[in-house]
Amino acid sequence: MRARTRHLTARAGRAAARMLGSRAELRLERVLLKRSWGRSAARRLETYLVSGYQSPLINIQSILARHHFVHLIAGDRFRELERAELEFAIAKNRALRAEQKRRGAKPGQRDKSVTKAFTAVMGDDGTVFMDRWRRELSDVAANRTSVLEAACGSANDYRFMVDCGLAAHLDYRGFDLTEANIANARAAYPDVDFRLGDVLNIDAPDASFDWVVVHDLFEHLSPTACEQAIAEVSRVARDGVLVSFFHMADIPEHEIKPLRQYHRNRLSLNRTREAFLTHCQSVDAVHVSRFVNEEYGLRQYYNKGAYTFVVRK
Ligand SMILES: C[S@@+](CC[C@H](N)C(=O)[O-])C[C@H]1O[C@@H](n2cnc3c(N)ncnc32)[C@H](O)[C@@H]1O
Repeated sequence: MRARTRHLTARAGRAAARMLGSRAELRLERVLLKRSWGRSAARRLETYLVSGYQSPLINIQSILARHHFVHLIAGDRFRELERAELEFAIAKNRALRAEQKRRGAKPGQRDKSVTKAFTAVMGDDGTVFMDRWRRELSDVAANRTSVLEAACGSANDYRFMVDCGLAAHLDYRGFDLTEANIANARAAYPDVDFRLGDVLNIDAPDASFDWVVVHDLFEHLSPTACEQAIAEVSRVARDGVLVSFFHMADIPEHEIKPLRQYHRNRLSLNRTREAFLTHCQSVDAVHVSRFVNEEYGLRQYYNKGAYTFVVRK
């Protein structure tokens, strides 16, 4: 089917489903999301979102998420190492920007040169903090924390939880709607619980995981599906939910932008916070570009719309 026809079909389907009510809307959305993400080749999914500014080695939101779990198992013991890792990541973000400029490219993740620039910038010291963490965390004796990751991709963040020794302290399960992602994740980690699943209807009892983590998903959902996903991740979490958003702003209402088969919405900070507060006790929101500027003097983080929520039940 040609792209324009597909677009019109999806739009007409959405309008019809809206009239039939939220269950029909969610059912259609699941089909469209599956179709859209299912179009990517397994090899592309394997490398998607793990390079450039989005590489969990230097992406501030991925690092903050790992530090959050380090705190759960070891308290404040590693504050200095956390700070050192963030300083390292900030230096690499700066160097990546400079390298893109040097190559005559426009700085930013969307420029095609970013992967080459990233490889050049990471050089031989790219995994130095993975190695340091692994040594430090091997000595920690703590109760295990159970973690459910929704929309885990091809183990995009989990790989780095393994490399830094954090995964050894977690009872982890990851799920994703896209079969190729789950096949990639299982091939890489055959002993880990990766499964197909839908954030709109999570296959887990209430409060069955200590923490739920989600990176870069909610903006891709319709408003009805986003509310449902927030209700679902909150339902299955016992202690809290950690969420990375990539397109959020301090605006009064969500800006809804339907694409062909999914969305790329700009989420309202306050509306999203309110949605979580109907299920949970508190929300700490970190505006990442403000955080790196105020704490580390990095004035130009690649994404001004990046926010991390730590939601407690
Ligand atoms: C932008 S990617 C983010 C992947 C990964 N979390 C990361 O940050 O690298 C969005 C992911 O959401 C998954 N996804 C989309 N709709 C979903 C749904 N309803 N339930 C679970 N996963 C979904 C896609 O298959 C894709 O892997």
